Amino acid sequence: MTKPVVVQKKPYLVEVESGKTYYWCSCGLSKKQPFCDGSHKGTDLVPVAYKATETKTVAMCGCKASANKPLCDGAHTKL
Ligand code: FES
Ligand code: FES
Repeated sequence: MTKPVVVQKKPYLVEVESGKTYYWCSCGLSKKQPFCDGSHKGTDLVPVAYKATETKTVAMCGCKASANKPLCDGAHTKL
């Protein structure tokens, strides 16, 4: 598997905490979207680390097609 699964064609709004690192699921197989739960094992895909520099709500890509992973860049509107 080299292509991610489209989980949803909209972002996940998640609250991140300053200084914490999050691992965004790039493969779409995780049951804990938008975060990695290890389900990518055996695929060519790996999670993308995101370090929060402030505590805020961010829009993480749910379609897995963003060019600015792990954040939504609007690419879901063209799927
Ligand atoms: Fe999707 Fe880990 S479960 S990248
Ligand atoms: Fe993937 Fe917006 S949800 S680019």
